[in-house]
Amino acid sequence: MIFNKRKQKEHSIDMTRIPTHIAFIMDGNGRWAKQRKMPRTYGHHEGTKTIRRLALEANQLGVKAMTVYAFSTENFKRDTKEIEYIFKLPKEFFHLYLKELIDNNVQIRYIGHLEMSPQETQSIIKDAVFQTSKNTGLILTFAFIYGGRDEIVETTKCICEKYKNGEISLDDITEDYFEKHLMTTDLPPVDLLIRSSGEYRLSNFLPWQLAYAEFIFDETLWPDFDEECLHRAISIYQGRERRFGGVLK
Ligand code: FPP
Repeated sequence: MIFNKRKQKEHSIDMTRIPTHIAFIMDGNGRWAKQRKMPRTYGHHEGTKTIRRLALEANQLGVKAMTVYAFSTENFKRDTKEIEYIFKLPKEFFHLYLKELIDNNVQIRYIGHLEMSPQETQSIIKDAVFQTSKNTGLILTFAFIYGGRDEIVETTKCICEKYKNGEISLDDITEDYFEKHLMTTDLPPVDLLIRSSGEYRLSNFLPWQLAYAEFIFDETLWPDFDEECLHRAISIYQGRERRFGGVLK
């Protein structure tokens, strides 16, 4: 199902049924910039403002976890200049917003192969994680050089190693055990997946964690995705009946 920003203006939210974990595929930065005859990188720059805006709003609403797809393992296929630009964004983002995020009790985390990014990018992200590690509000996770299939393969290898060393038996390998060994470890499962820009794909994002999530595809391009879009998505989510494989009540 796809929704157009202009069709709905106000959206009531039941504050007692706020999704615990919302994941975002932040799509449409390039098109947003192109519409303005600007380079694609300008769209990514503006896209970081949306992350800040939604993190603060989600935190206010009592969402426990928000995960954003900042760079996929497949994004290495892009032009080198664009990749280099995206790798510099954490520096700008945390320079501008880390203090505010700390003041709002937000915890920063990352999943993915951070080690494949420049040293400075790694230090900046790790420092933000460290500085916010004692916070107890929204957990804002950046999926950075992340790929869902890769995560499952890496987890499988890690568990095989434990089995090989005799640390665990085959019966220890349950869904819960596997889940705890994913990069998302103790994060709750995703309740709501939102993809901006009218694309209907998962693009290798959190395939395990999204197993029972509700999906919302919104036409809005990511730099324009605002609090109202988030409210609309939550309101639609609340209107759906989640059955987790059971039957209608
Ligand atoms: C998709 O839009 C967006 C990305 C691949 C990058 C998104 C990254 C950010 C918004 C910033 C990350 C920030 C931090 C702090 C790590 P697209 O380029 O595919 O857009 P298009 O489909 O219109 O071309």
